[in-house]
Parts: sequence; C-alpha cells; structure tokens
Amino acid sequence: MFRHLNRPVHQITSAISKMIVEGQQPRIVPKGRTFSVQYSLPKLPVPPLEQTLKKYLDTCRPLLDDEQYKRTQEVVARFKQGEGPVLHKLLEQRAQSTVNWLSDWWKYWAYLDVRVPVVVNVSPGIFLPRQTYRGQAEQLEFAAKFIAGVLDYKTKLDEQSIPVDTLGGKPLCMVQYYQLLNACRIPGNPSDSHVCIGPDDPNKPRHINVVYNNNLFSVEVYSNEDKPLSICQLAQQLRNCVSKGAAPGVPVGILTTMERSAWGQVYSDMITDKTNRESLENIQRSICVICLDGPLPAGAGDPVDTAASVILHGGGSRAYSANRWYDKTMQFIFNPDGYVGLNYEHTTAEGPAVIGLCDYVLDYVGRNQPSRTTGSESTTPQLLPFNINNNTQEAISRGNQEIDLAAKDLMLRGLFFNNYGKSFIKEQKLSPDAYIQIAFQLAYYRLYKKACATYETGSLRRFQLGRTDTIRSCSIASHAFTKAMDDSSVPGNKKVTLLKEAIQSHRKYTDDTINGQGIDRHLLGLRLIAQENGLEVPEIFTDPAYKKSTHYNLSTSQVASKYKAFLCFGPVVPDGYGLCYNPQDDQLIISISSFHSSPHTNSDLFSSSLSQSLLDMQTLLASHPQAKL
Ligand code: COA
Repeated sequence: MFRHLNRPVHQITSAISKMIVEGQQPRIVPKGRTFSVQYSLPKLPVPPLEQTLKKYLDTCRPLLDDEQYKRTQEVVARFKQGEGPVLHKLLEQRAQSTVNWLSDWWKYWAYLDVRVPVVVNVSPGIFLPRQTYRGQAEQLEFAAKFIAGVLDYKTKLDEQSIPVDTLGGKPLCMVQYYQLLNACRIPGNPSDSHVCIGPDDPNKPRHINVVYNNNLFSVEVYSNEDKPLSICQLAQQLRNCVSKGAAPGVPVGILTTMERSAWGQVYSDMITDKTNRESLENIQRSICVICLDGPLPAGAGDPVDTAASVILHGGGSRAYSANRWYDKTMQFIFNPDGYVGLNYEHTTAEGPAVIGLCDYVLDYVGRNQPSRTTGSESTTPQLLPFNINNNTQEAISRGNQEIDLAAKDLMLRGLFFNNYGKSFIKEQKLSPDAYIQIAFQLAYYRLYKKACATYETGSLRRFQLGRTDTIRSCSIASHAFTKAMDDSSVPGNKKVTLLKEAIQSHRKYTDDTINGQGIDRHLLGLRLIAQENGLEVPEIFTDPAYKKSTHYNLSTSQVASKYKAFLCFGPVVPDGYGLCYNPQDDQLIISISSFHSSPHTNSDLFSSSLSQSLLDMQTLLASHPQAKL
C-alpha cells in the first residue's frame, strides 16, 4: 500500500545536496568535477504506452499457458483502450514537473514504506577478499587503515574529485555517492524516514561510531586542526574502544533488525528519554559505523559462506547481529581472522556506488602503511548510554528471537567458478552479463523444468537522479534455448543459434532498460498515478499474470568489483533465490541465497546446476565454432 504521496523528499541537511536532489539549476561546476555533467544528463522519459504493453505481453508469454496468456492479452487490450492512455498522460504531466518522475516515489515504495526487516530482505552485504592479518591487534590496525581510507575518500567526495562513472561510454548520475556517508534510516510507523548530512552543512559530522561487544561508541576522527586522524591515532582510538567495551553492552543494535513498524514504535518511545535521544542522534549523524567482531561462530560450515552470512545478518543474537546498527547507511565489519566486509542500507544507493567506495578504500589500504605521525590529541571514545525500560527490553528479547530464526533460515553460498570468466565470453563475441543471465535460466530450468520470472537490476543512472529498472531476463528466446539445450533431438548447431538469440535478446532488453525504455517502472508509475488520483486499481494489475510475472523466483544483480569480492542479498520471494555476481576476466564469483524453510529451493543444488550449465554452455560453443545466428 502506498501512503503519503506528495510528501517532501527525505531530510537532507545541506544546500549542495538539496540542490542535487531537487534538481535546482546550479552554479557553474568546474569541468572534471563530480557534478560537472550532472545537469546535462537527460530526464528520465516515460516510454510509449503501446511499447510497454507489447513488451509486457512478451515477457509474460513463457510464464503462462495458452489459456492464461489469451486472457492476459484481453486484459491488456482493455487497458490499452480504457484507462491506460489517461494514466499515461497523467504520468507524462508528472514527468514534466519533476526532475525525475520516479525517484521520490521509488524511495518510499521500494524502501521507506516497506515494513519487513531490512536485514536479509533489503540491505545487501559485501564480502571483501580475505585479508592476511590475524588476531585482534592486527584487526584493529587493519580497521584503522580502512577508516583512514574512508576518510580520504570522503575528502575526495567533499572536493568533488571523484571521477564521473560511465556506462557504455555515457556519463552517469553521481548523486548516490553523496548519500552513502553521514546518512541513516530512521524507523517510523507507518513509514520510515532518512537523514543525510551534506558536505556543506555547517555542523557536519566529525565522528564515527564503533561497535564492539554490543557497546556503541562515538569516536572523533578529526583533529582539533580539522585534519583526519592518522592511522596510528585511529588504531589507538579502536584500542580504547576495545578496552572500554570489555563487558558486553545491552544489545540495542538488535532493534534495528526488527520489523520496521515494531522498531518504529520502540523508537518513538525511546526518544522521549533525553539520553536515548542524544545517543540515537549521535548514530544518525555519524559518518559511518565500524563493527569490530570476534571470531566466526564455531562449527558453522564453510568459513567463506559463514563470514558472508555474518556480514549479511550478523549470525544471530549470540554471534554479531547486535554488534551492528542496520539503519546506518554504511557499516564496515572486521573480524580477527582477516574477514572483512560491509553491510549497507539500500534506501539511497545501489551496489555500484558502494563498490566504488570499497575499491577506492582497498586501493588505499594496499598503498598506505601506518606512519608514526602524531597530531594534537583528539578526544577519547565516548560510550553511548541508553536507558532501557521494560518495553525496550521486551522488544530486544523479541528481536533476538526473530533474528535467530532469520539467520538460521538463510542458506548463503559463495560460488567461485574458476573454469572461465568474462574473457572467454567476450572472445565468443557475446555480452558477459547476458550470457550469465542465460546460464541462470538454464540452471533454473534444469532443476524445475519450467521458466520463472527473473529480475535483473538495470541502471537508470544515465538520467538525473536515476535509480534502477527491471531487466526481465526470462524471455521467449531464453525459454526456447533452455528447453532445447537438453533435448537430444535438437542438433548442436541449432542449440548454439538458440543460445546466441537468447543472449542477443537479453542484451537488447538491457539496452532498452538502461535507456529508460524498461517496462516495470512505467507500469509502477501507472499504478501509483491511478492511486494518487483516487482511481481504482486497473485490472491489468489484479490479473494473475501480473502477480506471476513479478513473483521473482530469481532476483539477480551484477555488481562488479576489480577485487575478488561479492555482494549478497536474500531472495525476494519465499520460494526464490538471490543471485549476485562479480564477473572477473578469468573467474565468475556468484553469491546464491535461498531459504531453508522453502521445500522448493536449495542454494547448493542451484550452485551445482549453475556450474554445470556454465560448463555445458562453454562446451557447446567450443564444439560448434562455426555456428552463426
Ligand atoms: N562481444 C564482446 N564484448 C562484449 C560484447 C560482445 N558482444 N558485449 C559486451 N561486451 C563487453 C562490453 O564492451 C564490456 O566491456 P568492458 O569490460 O571493457 O567494459 C563488457 O563486455 C561487459 O559488458 P556486458 O557484460 O554486456 O554488461 P554491462 O557492463 O553493459 O552491464 C548491466 C550490464 C545490466 C549489469 C549494467 O547495464 C547495469 O545496469 N549495471 C548496474 C547494475 C546495478 O545497479 N546493480 C546493483 C544492484 S544493488
């Protein structure tokens, strides 16, 4: 249910950010600066209605039997003749009067109005390559270097010297980069809010939060001369936190793992107390959160899968789920055995911006050794106090139980497919992303003998304030290939042709999507504009085909890093998989998640089916080198 239409965008406490987000025309931004091309980026278009409806029918086709499909064709025809054009016109009017007709809606519809816990369901984890340090002393040294890298990156952001991203040679909107640090989600009921303190805020944050043993600290990271603390000074601050936090703290962080309205209610009670309010505001205003964990939970299986799970959900109340603040946009996680990662709250940014920051910081860490520089002493870490009443205590107990169930239910696997990577796929003159998507289709078809609705994230950052649209990866062409692949009556040459057609069709859908010609956000816009105008929900959205084609059994996303890292997230439906991949030249790194509670899914089985599919597709191409489209 979409509430609070026409409300203002989330709270942004700086003129620069206001200007960026509200699209006010700027002062001149010097060439080469992060926002130098921002205002020449096009506005997100509203695609032609007829085009969207045709594509919609095409993507429903492999999911429906003949009779269902015929019914859906009739429903779509009625929409095209009836309310469709009226709603489309209203959407075009909205597009004319806003910088981006979708972005504000999207922030609420996809994030702030969503009531499920952010953990597993919304906030991704990023598993970074295992580091060589071992033991707590080295953990703190490494974390200090990492924090110094984050602060260095922040300086670059503030100076606007982060280069403009491109996709297919075209510049992208950079606003997301400005909403990663100094940012936090705030729980509410019926809707959350979000705060982000911009680089030109007169009272901009000078502190981070460190959480150790469930104790939350506020740590100043700038000297009295306004310089970032040195690595040595930061390491000393972390050691101070560890010694001050020797006794376990009250696990208030667990509250951030809860269903959002439940947490919102506890929050509104907590902030009636001045001490709590000040501590919570301290977290909301900090640059980021640093989580200092202990060793991985014993006997939990493969260490990489376990470490990735701990990064995604903390491992449960007896592990590190309370050693977090999941509302914080960026929290970096360090374990004493070299496992490092981060968890981010998704309201304001997608994986590529976050990975951009990680890649920068890992480069920084590789380059910089602690020097014995000293500066004027900064303050010592402050333990954030909380007054916990019975209601809050009871909520913490409930939160503990809920996160334990959620952590136990998630089956997360990291697949390091070493037989080939994107170089081989490019040599075949095929798009690596599309190829991997078709491998997902084959892996799924082999397990279930049917096609399923599949979501791939497509970037809309070619447009001002652009976020994402859906690339519907299951197509008529992909289904034709997956059905033929294991059919011994189909000759090899024909299979290659079908594979290439499927890949080409996917790449075409991708190009359309990233150029603002996708269908899902357009359909969403038509639905929301009907609601905003007090009109009935059009039949096209209550038709079972709409539900089926948006029940994404495969929720997928490419997040590429130059490092051997992987992003991971939970499935978006109970009987689904979450798949995220980082294609390297010689290797494909893929995270696979599912729920143990579903009798239909199993990440290990999917992983095997996917590996086999990738191998078989390679063999097929290698054995028919002359086959053409
Ligand atoms: N022959 C040879 N090479 C090809 C090729 C072909 N037919 N098609 C593509 N390539 C090359 C490309 O030129 C590119 O080369 P590069 O590595 O030198 O840049 C490379 O292969 C990758 O292209 P491709 O695999 O087609 O994908 P892409 O980089 O265009 O990305 C998406 C596709 C969908 C991932 C991208 O458009 C996107 O939207 N990314 C954002 C996803 C996102 O936001 N995720 C976060 C969710 S939290």
